[in-house]
Amino acid sequence: MASSDQSTPTKVGILSLGDMGAGIARLLIAHGFPVATNGQNRSEDTLERARNAKVELLSSDLELVQQCSVIFSVVPPRDAEATAQRIVDALSGGSHEETIYYVDLNAVAPSTCKSIVSLFEKARVPVKFIDACILGGPPSLKDSSSQEGTEAAWDQPSIPISGPHSLSALPDGERLTSVLQLRSISPEIGAASGLKMCFASLTKGFTALVTQSFTTAHRLGVTDELKRELGIMVPAMLTRAEKGVVGMPPKAYRWVREMEEISKTFHEEGHWDRTVFEGIAGIYKAVAEDGVLGQEKIGKRKRGTSIDDVAALMAEGLERKKKKTE
Ligand SMILES: NC(=O)c1ccc[n+]([C@@H]2O[C@H](COP(=O)([O-])OP(=O)(O)OC[C@H]3O[C@@H](n4cnc5c(N)ncnc54)[C@H](OP(=O)(O)O)[C@@H]3O)[C@@H](O)[C@H]2O)c1
Repeated sequence: MASSDQSTPTKVGILSLGDMGAGIARLLIAHGFPVATNGQNRSEDTLERARNAKVELLSSDLELVQQCSVIFSVVPPRDAEATAQRIVDALSGGSHEETIYYVDLNAVAPSTCKSIVSLFEKARVPVKFIDACILGGPPSLKDSSSQEGTEAAWDQPSIPISGPHSLSALPDGERLTSVLQLRSISPEIGAASGLKMCFASLTKGFTALVTQSFTTAHRLGVTDELKRELGIMVPAMLTRAEKGVVGMPPKAYRWVREMEEISKTFHEEGHWDRTVFEGIAGIYKAVAEDGVLGQEKIGKRKRGTSIDDVAALMAEGLERKKKKTE
């Protein structure tokens, strides 16, 4: 495993280079932190994102843990546990003994996060686990003329962390923490994950309701009236509805599991029954599977770029599904 001192910045491993992982990689690289990923078995889209972000492509998890003292897990929530197990397995395969930091940034329930921690208890090499979550979109340069290596040049998500560990113990850990704007909110594992669940329930829960409402309004022929009334009475809600629904189609597949994790959190931590967010998971499953919107990719958008088009396509997809089951 690479050791770092003031002259050799910490190399960060990121699994995987999706929309968010690539944004974090760009931010780190602009600030002088090398970033690597394992490109084996990944899609051409992911490899292209990695190359564009200037991320080093390695060919195994073993190489990744040998070269990186910090691993960030930024994967679809359904893959969070399997990704941690991959790192546990990779750590069993080498001969190094140094402590590694594992930062889980995924949208999962506190209890899922704790199950992930327990996987690392079986690792041969000591692992310092950091519970983290991401609130907001991927880091991006404010404009192309900005000085990449300065903090002010970037729009960044908020990244609360929790648990007994922080990256500060690394030789350049304070700088890494500052570049990513990591903010410790609690010594307890589960607090950061739980915060994400409570936050995302409001933003993604709202977007799901908008999707159902506008699809139904489309079928009733009252979409323009719905927009008019919202625009007069709650204009901020209309703005938020349009922004949320238009950005949602390529993420719907990933949000199915995220909504199930929220349902689990509200049940286990809040003692509510599971039904509301199980239902919302069903809405995103319908977007991902019942029609053309599920084929949308970030950066290559074709359909669903207006609230009217999302509503029309969902109405069409659900109508087709209904006919098939009749
Ligand atoms: N994007 C955002 O705005 C946002 C905001 C807040 C939080 N987050 C969090 O960030 C995480 C990732 O989101 P994202 O937006 O980056 O997702 P994404 O753009 O949908 O990308 C998912 C990435 O994960 C890869 N992947 C899929 N299955 C995998 C597996 N089994 N092992 C390793 N990699 C796998 C995909 O690679 P292939 O194409 O090669 O399969 C792709 O590169 C989620 O937990 C999410 O909650 C994202």
